Amino acid sequence: MHEMKYTLLALASFIATACTATAAVPTFTADVAPLLYGHCTVCHHANDLAPMSLLSYQEVKPWAAAIREAVLTRTMPPWKADPHYGKFTNDSSLTDREIATIKAWVDGGKPEGDPAKLPAPPSYSTDWKIGKPDAIIAIPRHELTAKGPDEYENFTVPTNFTEDRWVTAAELRPGNRKVVHHGHVQVVQAPTAKKAGAPADPQAEYRKYLMIHEGKLSWLRMDAPVINDGCVVDDNSYLPGSKPVDANFGAWGMLASYLPGREADVYPAGTARRIPAGSNLVFQLHYSHSTGKPEVDETSVGLLFAKEPPAQAAKRVDLGNHMLRLPAGDPNVEVTECHTFKQDMYVTSLTPHMHLRGKDAKFDVTYPDGKRETLLLVPKYNFNWQITYRLAEPKYLPAGTRLAIISHFDNSPNNPLNPDPTQVVRWGDASEMEMMDGWIEYLDKPLGSPQGKSGALHAESAPIASLPNHPPAPAPLPVKQ
Ligand code: HEC
Repeated sequence: MHEMKYTLLALASFIATACTATAAVPTFTADVAPLLYGHCTVCHHANDLAPMSLLSYQEVKPWAAAIREAVLTRTMPPWKADPHYGKFTNDSSLTDREIATIKAWVDGGKPEGDPAKLPAPPSYSTDWKIGKPDAIIAIPRHELTAKGPDEYENFTVPTNFTEDRWVTAAELRPGNRKVVHHGHVQVVQAPTAKKAGAPADPQAEYRKYLMIHEGKLSWLRMDAPVINDGCVVDDNSYLPGSKPVDANFGAWGMLASYLPGREADVYPAGTARRIPAGSNLVFQLHYSHSTGKPEVDETSVGLLFAKEPPAQAAKRVDLGNHMLRLPAGDPNVEVTECHTFKQDMYVTSLTPHMHLRGKDAKFDVTYPDGKRETLLLVPKYNFNWQITYRLAEPKYLPAGTRLAIISHFDNSPNNPLNPDPTQVVRWGDASEMEMMDGWIEYLDKPLGSPQGKSGALHAESAPIASLPNHPPAPAPLPVKQ
């Protein structure tokens, strides 16, 4: 027994020596700081959303164990795409080797190392990241009480643009980072007055019956028809009478989002988003009363205009299932939506969008020749980390390609984000209700294509304002430019 213990001890010390001989313990300055500066400090610096700054050795050291855990479980940095599918320019994830470096540093006693080896820490300015905007459009001053449940507010602000504007970059900037949890700004068509004497459209009347609008929120009637499998036929789960039409894609829809760590929306070189004359902007903001004090917010979006006409329009289409129903307590509800593109698409980004019960999302395409491919798989969707996955190269989808969005929802008590597992849940814009969307940014032509002579840029057609993603516009509010 004694002997065996001795042998084991000797073996252990042999292994320990062998290990130290082959791999020295990494140090903060030479090995760990560059990883934190490249993958973490964009959120982990003073006055940003993350709870602590990770810029200096003194700041990082007390968090070492938590950092080790966060990187080993891949909860940090928040990047949710399965690495087997697609390549993305904004992939922030650490490689296995980088994770091993952080682990070895913590396990090896967190040595600081030679201060001379520390790279210059990145500096984070509070200025506009896109540069000085050509126009700034803000919501009216919004006051928050000290306490209360989270608020989801929609503000409609007219652009007052008298002509179409081409936007090369848009940045949604929270006025008060302490209370703005996240936000989106969309371009919507200003409501047009119904022509007097026009005959009523029965489908529009049915849609009106199905969708309830109250205050700033919209939701689907509980007793509306249920279509969870939107892929039975194309566009199956749109609100009756509101199918998306390819020719209508483009001008309307999301312009910019603010989410922790998300970079500004900068459109690919040579492309720009069109904001049609007379459009409104709808700001959808999620506020939390996180400070316990009354607060005010004046969130705004900064826009850069194209200096010359872009070679092509940066476009976006929002597909989604609006007829979904999640039974109370159900841990795994599959909801799908399919659409076949009638034109060639060069897809530049994909964004799955669900609310608190969203569990996973997949974007699958079937090419006209029957070949299938997964463009994106998000196996653990999380409402707090709504990420736009920007493709490293525009993905060519020839006309006739069918896109399937396949999502699952967890409406059970096991879902820690679930606000109420006893509720049957239908479509609604409040986070306690659900959405199942896939937002797709795309181009009509390959990047770098010269501008066509046809003037096609200006031949955008009617809006897809019938899609229920766009809440009804309340009265116009003042604009600050
Ligand atoms: C996109 C922004 C973002 C990035 C990038 C990011 N974090 Fe975080 N991190 C957060 C936020 C916000 C929280 C607090 C909320 C949460 O835990 O989800 C957090 C929490 C943490 C925590 C948990 C703190 C606790 O209370 O236990 C650790 C540890 C951490 N981050 C480490 C890292 C490391 C290490 C990296 C880089 C490898 C990183 N983070 C990258 C935003 C970010």
